[in-house]
Amino acid sequence: MSSKSQTRYVPPKLRDFSPSALDKAAEKLLAALEKEWQAVANESDWRSFRDHWMARKDGVLTQINELWLKAAPKDAKREVGQRVNEIKKRVEDSAQRGENGYKAGAKARIADSDSVDISLPGLRRPIGAEHPIIKTRNETPSVFRNLGYSVEEGPVIETDYYNFEALNFPPNHPARDTQDTLFVANQEAKPQRERLMLRTHTSPVQIRAMERMKPPIRIVIPGKVHRNDPPDASHSPMFHQIEGLAVDTSITFGDLKGTLDHAMKALFGSSVKTHFRPSFFPFTEPSAEVMVSCFICGGSGKRGSDPCRPCKQTGWIEILGCGMVDPNVFEFVKHNGYDPKKVSGFAFGMGVDRIAILKYGVDDIQLFFQGDVRFLEQFG
Ligand code: PHE
Repeated sequence: MSSKSQTRYVPPKLRDFSPSALDKAAEKLLAALEKEWQAVANESDWRSFRDHWMARKDGVLTQINELWLKAAPKDAKREVGQRVNEIKKRVEDSAQRGENGYKAGAKARIADSDSVDISLPGLRRPIGAEHPIIKTRNETPSVFRNLGYSVEEGPVIETDYYNFEALNFPPNHPARDTQDTLFVANQEAKPQRERLMLRTHTSPVQIRAMERMKPPIRIVIPGKVHRNDPPDASHSPMFHQIEGLAVDTSITFGDLKGTLDHAMKALFGSSVKTHFRPSFFPFTEPSAEVMVSCFICGGSGKRGSDPCRPCKQTGWIEILGCGMVDPNVFEFVKHNGYDPKKVSGFAFGMGVDRIAILKYGVDDIQLFFQGDVRFLEQFG
């Protein structure tokens, strides 16, 4: 509004207090009010409009109180008072209307403030999508489901017995140090095997499943695990694993190799090769690490003339740990049909987050857990 250049309404002194003269004066005032309000286009306009009409010191309302009401002869006071009250109401309404009006934009400022502007864009609700970790976690079991495996789950807060002891980590055995454990506080009063911790792997569900189901058994176990690792680009104190377990009367290391070779081809493409390298886990014997030929560089270790980073130029990527179930583990579930002299089996475990990192070419595991929509919406 050009309130500064435009002449603003100034209430006149009244000499004639007859009803018709009062009506005329009120009419003039209200016309000026309407005109000035129409020119309000933004917040600062609205403020100066409000101050001009309503400021306690010199606003128009104060002035007509002085010049019209107080100056009126006694017998006209009633008539003047009625009109001044009416004017007061109109000014206040305008100021209110102006505040709403400039907020909705000067153009949308129409007499009927309840009407809806159907030309405004509607509210858009973004449609969610699966988190890349959840997506990867769900794809892997489906490969095994096609081989007749079912899906099992277990608790994230686990006892020492299931996380370690029944998996052939004896109390105080140094093998426990390979999995930096987050313990639940104040467990010292309990016997060691009942003490609680955040599970460091999904392997305890092997024991829980064998306690509930008699052999033969073929299961995959996706789930969250925790380790006391400081977060960096490739470590997170919380991550995800998928465990597998197959137990029957004559399962061999050949079955383990055939199954995992098939699964890796189903997950990473039919041209990948697998390589089994001796390893150690307390609950499998013999144990192996499975390497998959790098599906990024095709096993060459190079991308054009650049070194291939995901496989560190070796052409191989370590994907999982596995092995034949150690007879000592079966001893803990012998009562449910797992006599180590009669059954054999294999187990494997892989990191979901690592697979997702490789699959989507993400260079920092932390990105998966920071909840930044700009990162996540790329997978939608
Ligand atoms: N639980 C092991 C780990 O977290 C992986 C594993 C599972 C190894 C099953 C062998 C068999 O490192």
